[in-house]
Amino acid sequence: MQISTEKNNLFGEQAVFAQRVRAILATRHNRVPKATVITFGCQQNVSDSEKLKGMLCSMGYEITEDEHSADFIIFNTCAVREHAQDRVYGNIGKVKQLKKDNPLLIAAVCGCMAQQEIVAEKIKKSYPYIDIVFGTQVFHRLPEFIYKRLKGSGRIFERDLPNGDIVEQIPIKRDGTFKGWLPIMYGCNNFCTYCIVPYVRGRERSRDPEEILAEARQMVKDGYKEITLLGQNVNSYGKGCDHGINFSKLLRKICEIEGDFRIRFMTSHPKDCTIELLDTIKDCEKISRHLHLPFQSGSSRILKLMNRYYDREGYLKLIKEARARIPDVSFTSDIIVGFPGETYEDFKETLSLVEEVKFSSLFTFIYSPRNNTPAAAMPDPVTRKEKGKWFDELLRLQEKIAAENIKEYVGKEYKVICDDYGSEEGYLSGHTSSSAVVEFKGDSSLIGNFVNVRVTSCQGGSLKGIIIE
Ligand code: 5AD
Ligand code: SF4
Repeated sequence: MQISTEKNNLFGEQAVFAQRVRAILATRHNRVPKATVITFGCQQNVSDSEKLKGMLCSMGYEITEDEHSADFIIFNTCAVREHAQDRVYGNIGKVKQLKKDNPLLIAAVCGCMAQQEIVAEKIKKSYPYIDIVFGTQVFHRLPEFIYKRLKGSGRIFERDLPNGDIVEQIPIKRDGTFKGWLPIMYGCNNFCTYCIVPYVRGRERSRDPEEILAEARQMVKDGYKEITLLGQNVNSYGKGCDHGINFSKLLRKICEIEGDFRIRFMTSHPKDCTIELLDTIKDCEKISRHLHLPFQSGSSRILKLMNRYYDREGYLKLIKEARARIPDVSFTSDIIVGFPGETYEDFKETLSLVEEVKFSSLFTFIYSPRNNTPAAAMPDPVTRKEKGKWFDELLRLQEKIAAENIKEYVGKEYKVICDDYGSEEGYLSGHTSSSAVVEFKGDSSLIGNFVNVRVTSCQGGSLKGIIIE
């Protein structure tokens, strides 16, 4: 059951704290105070960090990448795998020296790691120089936390997970000028047995469609050419809400906004990917011809243990339905290698599924046990070394498939978004609606715009093309 959200003004109180912080900072530093935001993890975190930056700017901070010149530093953390967590601990350790160099520095840790009690306790004990620690659902209270600390409060630890209304109207400072994130929902209800997300981000909550549409309209007005809708499972957008707008309807409404722009979305859970959604993609030219559809494992036995609610056959049928409707669609996926109890026979089913679907690219992970998740208590006899070998086998297979896939593009014409400079002098790089990257000669003024390109060759796994009218 989702909690429907009303447009609310929970940020109003925080705006008052922001003004108070601004006034204190004006006397505390005899220059413009600076803040650094260090982000780990997924796009949702990147998007949250854009709001942290927006709030910091509203408090009078200037954002800097240079942590040595920062007066405030915040680590927005990820807990999805152990490796991500270890990296965070390595990073927050350096605050000790930064504080020696700048005694006025305030340091904070937030995000999925900070939401876990065990992590908050560790920071409390072992990292005394971290001033503020707060979880995923109170991050809009950053102005209040900074204000209290500036006024001499003790260290602040706040891990409330209220599962309440979504706080709208948080200021935002987007990193990009033509590609931007737009969160449409938060949290997850799926409880895949390996995953910590539902515990650290709480239950699924959808944003009000009018809030989303207003933000999308503003982004188009501001010149954004690509808007990526974000959620742990965008396909269940609107479930339990009384406005009757599901994900497909939301997409159609966003497509009605006038202007030349493209919509992407992630992540789609295969169990909720409907024919209605596939038809919507087919009908709406503004929606990217690309589906990120994590299948995690090719073995139905393992999928059941993962609590994924689909099997191998169901997944392959969905891919077939999608290709029948949207012939130029490309697929990417997430895969976990070495889930507890997975045998090499199971893993071979993952390999054969990869071979069958021919994904354009894959995000592959070796299983990492997460605190208090059901999978962490399952017997896991295969060694890390063995899992590493399977992982390498999967990578080699995908490299071969990606190199084959990409040849399909040669000789065809595409409308691409020009992203950046290319890898060679005089070249630019862009991506098609299906997310294939192509390089072509052109002037840097094209960056951030749509360009029509004919793909002329495929060299060493990358596409080259020329601009056409
Ligand atoms: N171990 C390894 N990979 C994981 N993922 C989520 N939890 C774990 C875990 N415990 C992967 C899944 C998910 C992606 C975002 O991260 O593949 O789709
Ligand atoms: Fe984690 Fe599964 Fe939710 Fe994705 S759908 S965030 S893998 S629990």
